[in-house]
Amino acid sequence: MSRIPPLHLPHLELGVCDYPEHVPQDRWAGYAQAQKALGLRFVRLAEFAWSRLEPRPGEYDWRWLDEAIETYAAAGLGVVLCTPTAAPPAWLVARHPEVLPQGRAGQVKTFGSRRHYDFSSPVFREHSRRITRAMAERYGEHPAVVGWQTDNEFGWGDTAQSYTPAALEGFRQWLARRYGRVEALNEAWGNVFWSMEYGDWNQIPLPGQAVAEVNPAHALDFLRFSSDQIAGFQEEQVAILRECSPGRFVTHNYMGFFSAFDHYRVSRCLDFASWDSYPTGTLEALKEWGLADPGLALRFTRTGHPDVTAFNHDLYRGMVGGAGQGQTHGFWVMEQQCGQVNWAPSNPLPAKGAVELWTAQAWAHGADVVSYFRWRAATMAQEVLHSGLLRHDERPDRGYAEVAALDPEQFPAGQVKTKVVLLHDYESLWLYNMQPHAEGMNYWAQTFASYRALRSLGMDVDIRHPDSDLSGYAVVVAPALTMMTPERARHLAEAAEHAQIVFGPRTAFRTASGRTPEEGQFGELGALVGASLQNYDSLPEGLEQSLHLGGEPHTARRWAESYDPAGAAVLARYAGGPLDGEAAVIRRGNVTVIGAHSETLIAEVLEEVLNTVGLQPTRLPEGVRLSRRGGITLLQNWNAHPEAWQGEVLAPVSTRLLGTVKELV
Ligand code: GAL
Repeated sequence: MSRIPPLHLPHLELGVCDYPEHVPQDRWAGYAQAQKALGLRFVRLAEFAWSRLEPRPGEYDWRWLDEAIETYAAAGLGVVLCTPTAAPPAWLVARHPEVLPQGRAGQVKTFGSRRHYDFSSPVFREHSRRITRAMAERYGEHPAVVGWQTDNEFGWGDTAQSYTPAALEGFRQWLARRYGRVEALNEAWGNVFWSMEYGDWNQIPLPGQAVAEVNPAHALDFLRFSSDQIAGFQEEQVAILRECSPGRFVTHNYMGFFSAFDHYRVSRCLDFASWDSYPTGTLEALKEWGLADPGLALRFTRTGHPDVTAFNHDLYRGMVGGAGQGQTHGFWVMEQQCGQVNWAPSNPLPAKGAVELWTAQAWAHGADVVSYFRWRAATMAQEVLHSGLLRHDERPDRGYAEVAALDPEQFPAGQVKTKVVLLHDYESLWLYNMQPHAEGMNYWAQTFASYRALRSLGMDVDIRHPDSDLSGYAVVVAPALTMMTPERARHLAEAAEHAQIVFGPRTAFRTASGRTPEEGQFGELGALVGASLQNYDSLPEGLEQSLHLGGEPHTARRWAESYDPAGAAVLARYAGGPLDGEAAVIRRGNVTVIGAHSETLIAEVLEEVLNTVGLQPTRLPEGVRLSRRGGITLLQNWNAHPEAWQGEVLAPVSTRLLGTVKELV
C-alpha cells in the first residue's frame, strides 16, 4: 500500500473542531463563513456523530453530513472527517452489550458518555469496519475531504485495557503465539516465584484482580497485548480509508503524556501523529511529578509550563517514522485549547496572549496545522463549561481575538533540526511505573527532568524511540531507559562511537520479559558503561542525599543509586548517609551515567556534555524558551511577569520571531 505524503503546506495553517450536529442547520453557513474569515483553513467534523449517521441499525442518514460538508467546502474550508467509533450508539450497545469495556475488577462500563467499547470485541470490530467503510465510500473521494482522523483519543477514560471475556480469550491466544509453549512463558515470566506456574493457556487470567501486585512480567505482556489490540483496531480502519479515500492523510489525535499503550506501535500505520494540546489542564502533571520547586505549577497556572507542552510536540513529531527510520514528519495539533477547559481540578482563564503563545510554540516545534477546540462552546451535556472560540451566545470569546490577530504566513514550513535526542519508550515506562519503589518517583518525572534541563539550556530536542536511527545526533540522552535488550545495547554502543550518551538512573534494570539481568545491572549494557550498579536508595519526602560534582554540592531527592566504577571515571560522589563516598555520576569514553534524581545535577552534567560537543548551551530564565524551525528562532516568555534576557526585557506572555523581516511582539 503506497503512502501519501502529508499535505504540503507552505506555512502554518489553522483549523477548528466543529460539530454542526449540535446546532440548527440555519447556523452552518454563517459558522463556515466566519471560520474562513477568521483565517481558518480546515474544519474537523463528525467525530462523535454515529447516532446521527446511523440512527437505526443499517439505516444511514447522510443528508445532514452531505450538506454540512458542502457548506464548509463552499466557504473554502478543507474537511477532516473522523470515524465516529469513539461513541457507539445506544442501539448497538443494546443489541450487543458484550462490546462494553470492563474495568479491572470486572465492572462493566456502561453507555452514557463515550469510549464505551472494548478493542478486543469481535462484534465491535465488525461494526467499526462497517461504519468506517460506509463513511469512506460516501466521502472518501469528496474533493473537500483532505484527510481522516481515526476514532478519538484512544484510551481516554481508562479504556486502553479492558478486562472482558473477549480480552481474556485474545490475550491467551496472543501469549500462545508469542511463547509457543506454556513452559516458555513460565520461564520468561519467572512463574516459579510464588507458585504461579501454568500448565495450560486456559489457566492464565487477566492481570486485573489478583490479591496483591501481579507479576510485572504478566502485566507487561498485557500492556503489549492491549497495544496490539489498539493497533489492530486502528489498522483495520486505516486499510479501509486508504482503499476508499486515496490521496488523503490518515492520523489519530493522541493525548499528552498518555502512556497506557505503546504509541509507536499504534502509530505505524499513520501518515503522521496528531495530539490534543490543553496546556493549562496538562499542567496538573507537574503537580503529580512534584518537581523540586512546588510553586512552579502555580506560577504557570494561566499558560501551562512551556516544557510540559513542548515535550508533547516533540514526542508526537517523532512518533511516525520514529522507530527505526529516524525521519521527522510534521504533525497536527488536532485540538488546541483556546479558552478554559472543564476537566482539571481547577480551570483558570488562560492569560491574555496564551492562545498566540501556544500556537506559535506548536509551529516552532514542527506542527503543520493547529486546530482549535472548539468553534462554539457547547450549550448542552458534559462540556458546557468548556470554552470555544465563540461563547454560548455566539459572541467571540477571548481566544477568538488572538486567533484573529495571528498571521499564519509568518510561520513558514521548515524542518526542526537538532543534534540532541532524548530517548523514550513505553515498555521502559511501564516497567518503571509498575514498581516505582520511591514515593513520587515515576518515569515521566525522571524523563521530564532531563528534557526540561535541555530546554532551559536553549536546546531543541528530538524525542525518539531508543531503537530508531541515532546517526545524526551528537548528544543522546536516555533518562529512564529501564528496559534493555541485546540488540538495543549494540545499537547504543554504535551510537556511542559518534555521540555522547547520557543515561539516567535505573538504566538497563530489566530485560524484555521484565526480569532483572542475571549478571546484574547494567546487564547487556555493561560492556559499554564499564561499571556496575552498587546500591539504590529510595528517599521518602523530606529525606535527601547530598553529593558533590567537581566540588559543587547537589541534592538528590527520591532516588539515589551508586556504582562500582570499575573501568569508568567517577565525576560525582555521594556525601553522608549509607552511600557516603560511593560513585553518583560515572563516565567512560562518550558514556555518562547519572545515578541521582537531582534537577540541578542533571542540568549541570548536560551543560558540560553539550559544551564538549560544541552545541553552545545558553542558560535561559525559567519560562523563557528558544525554539528553532527553518531559519527562524522563536523567543517566548511564558511568565506572567516581564523577564530580562540578554539585555532585553521580554513582556509577560509574549512571543517574538527572530530572523524574519517582521517581528511579532
Ligand atoms: C478531548 C476530546 C474532546 C473534548 C476535549 C475537551 O479529550 O478529544 O472531544 O472532550 O478533550 O477538552
